[in-house]
Amino acid sequence: MLKTKTGILSLLTESDFISGAELAKQLGVSRTAIWKNIQKLKEDGYNIIAVTNKGYKLLETSDRLNETLLRAEIEKSELFETLIYKKTIDSTQNHAFRILDQHDGNIVIVSGHQSQGRGRFKREWLSPEAAGLYMSLVFRPNISNHNMIVFNLFMSLAISETIRETAGLNSGIKWPNDIFINDKKVCGFLTEVISTDNIVDTIVCGVGINIKQSEETQKLGTATAIRDELSEDHFDVNHFIGILFKKIEFYYGKFLSEPFSTIKEHWLEHAVIFNRELKITTVNETFKGKALDITDEGYLVILTDDHNIHKVISADIEI
Ligand code: BTN
Repeated sequence: MLKTKTGILSLLTESDFISGAELAKQLGVSRTAIWKNIQKLKEDGYNIIAVTNKGYKLLETSDRLNETLLRAEIEKSELFETLIYKKTIDSTQNHAFRILDQHDGNIVIVSGHQSQGRGRFKREWLSPEAAGLYMSLVFRPNISNHNMIVFNLFMSLAISETIRETAGLNSGIKWPNDIFINDKKVCGFLTEVISTDNIVDTIVCGVGINIKQSEETQKLGTATAIRDELSEDHFDVNHFIGILFKKIEFYYGKFLSEPFSTIKEHWLEHAVIFNRELKITTVNETFKGKALDITDEGYLVILTDDHNIHKVISADIEI
């Protein structure tokens, strides 16, 4: 049933009008099955019209997170094999660790609400319903621990590029794990790994993207959301996820096969940490300074206010 639904959705997205007979032929099912699935898609919020002698047409895609559409995207993906969708969950990140032994291959866990969303440094990640996209990506890279250092650089570029291309907003990367728009945080991600004998078996990368400001996130004063940065109200979250999966597939492939130097220029174009005063907190110390460069190995080079050069690999940065 689900395959027919996702198949119809794919064909409707690709066509202008398409008849029930043509849908039935292409998907190898009866016209009754097509009709039933069209009704289900309508119940899911898809605006599908039927015109005599022309067929069905998808007028606009729903801006609600939609399991059917997510499944259609995963079916197209060569990277992800399993999608787990939960309307609500404690934390997609916690769930990833609970279920990762039950599946081989790469997994995506998506939710529209988290009751115990968590961020870096054990901070809470506010995850109100219908306000954000909360997902955890499970990868099985089989690479040495050392190669993980640049993973976040590839991921951050995938996310920032998706926001620029789908929303037309000038997003940027705040090294190491945040995406900003107009100096406010729109997305944060958290990378956790399982490694044995210096080999990374599993990466669990949790991504939280603010789609719409809620009362809670607004109170923070430091966060923004994609819709709130747009002049128009409509933002197609399902289209956004489709592009995000493609970008992640592309940049994850590059991460496995190419050094950071091949994307460095492009990454620098997205970075928002240069030419400004930064406050840097590492596990050992806090200091102020300016970022000079990022090395091919992924270290951020800082000139401190007291004229020392520091190379940091992980830190909390305030701009
Ligand atoms: C940060 O900026 O501190 C990272 C935030 C990561 C939040 C995401 S939302 C999906 C996944 N589930 C969680 O509990 N956390 C991550």
